[in-house]
Amino acid sequence: MANNRTFTMIKPDAFEAGNSGAILKMIEEAGFKIVAMKATQLTPVLAGKFYEVHKERPFYADLCKYMSSGPIIAAILEKDNAVEDFRALIGATNPANAAEGTIRKIFAKSIEANAVHGSDSDENAAIEGNFYFSQTERVL
Ligand code: CMP
Repeated sequence: MANNRTFTMIKPDAFEAGNSGAILKMIEEAGFKIVAMKATQLTPVLAGKFYEVHKERPFYADLCKYMSSGPIIAAILEKDNAVEDFRALIGATNPANAAEGTIRKIFAKSIEANAVHGSDSDENAAIEGNFYFSQTERVL
């Protein structure tokens, strides 16, 4: 994935609350093009693989349980400067610290159930996108 793409998940809390449409609207209005998208649900094992980088963190077990607790939407997004611009759009990990008007400020319930994921680098955007989408599925 080039530096004009990032990867996002609408997490179980936001999906369950019926906020997926509103979040996708904010994403599109901010200039991101959705180039791949699917609704799915992680198993605990797959959630553990996705967040393997955090496996030594105290919140890892709870995070895997939470991320496999219900449906999510996974998507690859395209825009110039995608990773950085998307992280600005979603706001800080902890919604208490997120700027006004950001997706997490508006929709997140807690530091764990924080509505959306956004890749933190071009390298991870590629890894995370490939975790969910095969070459044959990514048709755009
Ligand atoms: P995300 O951006 O998807 O990356 C790692 C996730 O771990 C993060 O969003 C939160 O859902 C969760 N997380 C990060 N820090 C904490 C924390 N201190 N306590 C609980 N969950 C956390």
